[in-house]
Amino acid sequence: VFGGFASHALASRIEDATPTLIISADAGMRGGKVVPYKHLLDEAIRLSSHKPANVLMVNRGLADLHPVEGRDQDYATLRQANMDTVVPCEWVDSTHPSYILYTSGTTGKPKGVQRDTAGYAVALAASMKHIYMGNPGETYFSTSDIGWVVGHSYIIYGPLINGMATIMYEGLPIRPDAGIWWQLVEKYKVSVMFSAPTAARVLKKQDPSYLTKYDLSSLKALFLAGEPLDEPTATWIGGALNKPIIDNYWQTETGWPIMAICNGVEQAPTKFGSPGKAVYGFDVQLIDETTGEEITEANKKGVIAVNGPLPPGCLQTVWGDDKRYVSTYWSSIHNKVMYSTFDWGVKDEDGYFFILGRTDDVINVAGHRLGT
Ligand code: PRX
Repeated sequence: VFGGFASHALASRIEDATPTLIISADAGMRGGKVVPYKHLLDEAIRLSSHKPANVLMVNRGLADLHPVEGRDQDYATLRQANMDTVVPCEWVDSTHPSYILYTSGTTGKPKGVQRDTAGYAVALAASMKHIYMGNPGETYFSTSDIGWVVGHSYIIYGPLINGMATIMYEGLPIRPDAGIWWQLVEKYKVSVMFSAPTAARVLKKQDPSYLTKYDLSSLKALFLAGEPLDEPTATWIGGALNKPIIDNYWQTETGWPIMAICNGVEQAPTKFGSPGKAVYGFDVQLIDETTGEEITEANKKGVIAVNGPLPPGCLQTVWGDDKRYVSTYWSSIHNKVMYSTFDWGVKDEDGYFFILGRTDDVINVAGHRLGT
């Protein structure tokens, strides 16, 4: 989960996931400030009706830790004690759940997106080759928080499955100064970078000379996702970096892009304001909200929906609640059993989509879905 959750939000997730073990750091860092986690976690466990038997604390030496006797364990001590332990590989079915990631819906209980193991691995490996153009041996830099889906897919699993080095960055793009990301690109010879339009807009308010101060010759492209990418922002950052800026559209639920430019399959131009065309595996249709019929006319607004089955990598179900999975995602299109993204969109004559916003009154800012 995202580190900044308040105790009650964390408590509802603990209650839903019923973990046997929780792993936490003592604190995170943001904008040069320490954000202590331990008291939030203790309070969340107190509020939750489910109590994990063990809590593994990673002490970064940032904040006070008051261990709970019999429950809390110290990571460094356990690691030292188990240095020579051999842990065999655990074979699981391809459909064995790999993780649960909660989406912040508008109201009520958070929905746990349940991901499988093999399908997800295959989808991520394919996306590296076909969408993100990352090669084994190169360095991938996703600026996301690992508690967000982009962090799961493209800080951790995707780059590592593809044999790439990955950079995990904690904090803001403007500390110690607005050149920090580009300094990292130069230092680690980053070949692919992934961020969000919000971050680009933050950088736009800073001195533009930071973007040209470092050697960015290793960088092939900057991918942006998570919210609409407006043309002024895309033009500004693309021009300042002198690199292609590539939009892509997806959701926590899908785990990888629904719409993108698949340059690794077929070279195609980007269009401003569009995340591209439907990615292979996603049978995307625009649906008329009242009739449930497919909209075939160009540039006419409809609900973005996907015919089943969803491709590998997408959610298997809502954790612990198959009925909710069906009633939420597969029951909102009139007269049809289709997966709804709950986003409005249009498609132009060339098959490029444009995203117009949520149908359920949620806006997405910096990776957080907020009610309007
Ligand atoms: O409304 C769409 C918006 O973000 C939602 C998904 O957010 P989340 O589950 O946090 O996953 C983000 C994964 C990148 C979508 O339903 N959204 C995502 N990408 C774009 C977007 N809106 C416009 N353009 C995008 N490229």
